[in-house]
Amino acid sequence: MVKNMKILFFVILLYSFCSFTLKAQTIRLDKLDLTNMECGWGTAQANKSVEGNTLSIAGQKFEHGVGTHAISTFLLNINDNGKRFLATVGVDDEATNKGSVEFFVLGDRKVLWQSGIMKKGTASKIVDVDISNIKKLGLLVTDAGDGIDYDHADWCDAKIEMTKDVSLSSQLIKRTTQKAYISTPKTSDHPQINGANIFGVSPGHLFLYTIAATGKRPIIFSAKSLPEGLTLDPKTGIITGKIDKEGLYKTILFAKNNLGKAEREFRISVGSTISLTPPLGWNSWNCWAGAVDASKVEAAADAMVKTGLINHGWTFINIDDCWSIKPGSKDSLIAGDARDKNGMINTNNKFPDMKALSNYIHNKGLKLGIYSSPGPTTCAGYTASYQHEDQDALRYAEWEIDYLKYDWCSYGSIDTNQNLEAYQKPYKVMRASLDKVNRDIVYSLCQYGMGNVWEWGAEIGGNSWRTTGDISDSWSSVSQNGFNQAGHEKYASPGHWNDPDMLVVGLVGWGPSLHPSKLTPDEQYSHISLWCLLSSPLLIGCDLSRLDNFTLNLLSNDEVLAVDQDPLGKQASRILDADGKQIWIKDLEDGSKAVGLFNTDNNKKTPSDYFSPGNSNIKELIIFKASDIRISGKFRVRDLWRQKNLGIYSNEFSIKVPYHGVKLLKITPIK
Ligand code: GAL
Repeated sequence: MVKNMKILFFVILLYSFCSFTLKAQTIRLDKLDLTNMECGWGTAQANKSVEGNTLSIAGQKFEHGVGTHAISTFLLNINDNGKRFLATVGVDDEATNKGSVEFFVLGDRKVLWQSGIMKKGTASKIVDVDISNIKKLGLLVTDAGDGIDYDHADWCDAKIEMTKDVSLSSQLIKRTTQKAYISTPKTSDHPQINGANIFGVSPGHLFLYTIAATGKRPIIFSAKSLPEGLTLDPKTGIITGKIDKEGLYKTILFAKNNLGKAEREFRISVGSTISLTPPLGWNSWNCWAGAVDASKVEAAADAMVKTGLINHGWTFINIDDCWSIKPGSKDSLIAGDARDKNGMINTNNKFPDMKALSNYIHNKGLKLGIYSSPGPTTCAGYTASYQHEDQDALRYAEWEIDYLKYDWCSYGSIDTNQNLEAYQKPYKVMRASLDKVNRDIVYSLCQYGMGNVWEWGAEIGGNSWRTTGDISDSWSSVSQNGFNQAGHEKYASPGHWNDPDMLVVGLVGWGPSLHPSKLTPDEQYSHISLWCLLSSPLLIGCDLSRLDNFTLNLLSNDEVLAVDQDPLGKQASRILDADGKQIWIKDLEDGSKAVGLFNTDNNKKTPSDYFSPGNSNIKELIIFKASDIRISGKFRVRDLWRQKNLGIYSNEFSIKVPYHGVKLLKITPIK
């Protein structure tokens, strides 16, 4: 009897155990660890849109789900334990009218469901698919073939019905396994003068230029024929002063140490155009975003000097959003009176003394940039310039600011018209205010390309204009922002630059926590090469105080930077875009050409391709003829990353280019 009781007891125990583990269960997508969900911009959010708002599709709000951004992939190990996948999908209402995406559900690489192209305002679609007998469930959002701008995509009320109570793991598609490799030889101990060899200043305005030179310290700097009104500090190489008379002044700069002497011609153009070469510097947004404060900005300036980046021409230290008061905030660090009794803008408590910070930066030979919006508040909701433009320009001059990024943000609520006049107006207003102050301030328009800003940015007095939405550290984002510049070259010229957004190399993360750029090393070489070919402003977006050797090497190749800083100011044009290969060519002042050969791999793509890791071993042979790059006869080829001559060629040249990688060449015709 007792024995039978025992058996019965075990049978009951076993039954309840099995029924517990085998019990069907439903797992909400937002409950899973989303770290492995890839996004083309930002990071996937549980129960929020990618920008952190309530999930919302065509006016319909959702409490649960996952907000992501195309191109987005998520691979789940279902292991034959799945029953159904259910969701309601669509473009989030926070996207502008541009967003268009396509959702796919894949089972073991086969498309089980696809939404068709969905845009902002398209009614949500219901997904209800059978996922039994599949091992891997793939959730994909593509850019619908028109680029990823504003592709905010929501998987709302998304859930996976399982046959058993098992945990569900996701899998990162391993794309970033390539080891960092350094291409550029160390700079020599012999002195060498780097950076721009032309510099523009307005008559009578303060001149500040630091001679960028590598080589063993101490270096003694000197100059021949320095125009009257300027003085050069021989120990630091900082040139300051004022020149009253317009004109082009030719000077020779010298840098000498105990190993030798370097000299280089330097032209000073005194006139109405500044920023004669694209600005080189750092900006706080891609690393710190809202976590920026004065000490982080000082640390960036310190690092610019300590790492030696300043010796390669890097100059600007730019504070992005979040330095002013945030109206309505309860946080004492950012709360307070937005303006003083005279209407002059106040900083928040994270920037207790902007003038002191400015002095700190200028004393190092660097320059300070700031950020505002023509609307009442910035994109992050901090006080901006609307109806205070003159006062803000005055304030910037008082703080000795050298660069202003002026970001559209809340201005859309002031003027809802979507025409050229409305797009231009606020930028003209601030231009007029900047013109009233006695200081050169580089004027950077940021409005993401609205109204084809490249066609009129120069005309309304911008020194640069953002042509795209915000960049992110993904290949889809970088390649879209960069390669989409084809055709914009005719609008760039000295003082007027297309800006495909800041650099995403090194430790980035939009603060406070940072991660190493998700771009592979080859993708980073492509990123920097393309931005230099595009004569783009180069604003480093990472934490400079924790710069690794690879990133430092990437940012300190003088021959590569010289492509960006070439005084001719010609942006590269694209001469080939086929089969995942692109060739870009940029005319240089000395008669040579910078040529970028890219293996973009952007052309293929069936839905299942998005789940394949890129194969960095696959190299593509890229060939060009002399006539393709508008030269004839023999030509010398130099690999700029390796700073190595590859030889003399005639007729044509071919080379293998790694997956998502680049060969950046200088081609010099031989007479
Ligand atoms: C965006 C801008 C970014 C950054 C951000 C700050 O509109 O494109 O580069 O400045 O605002 O809120």
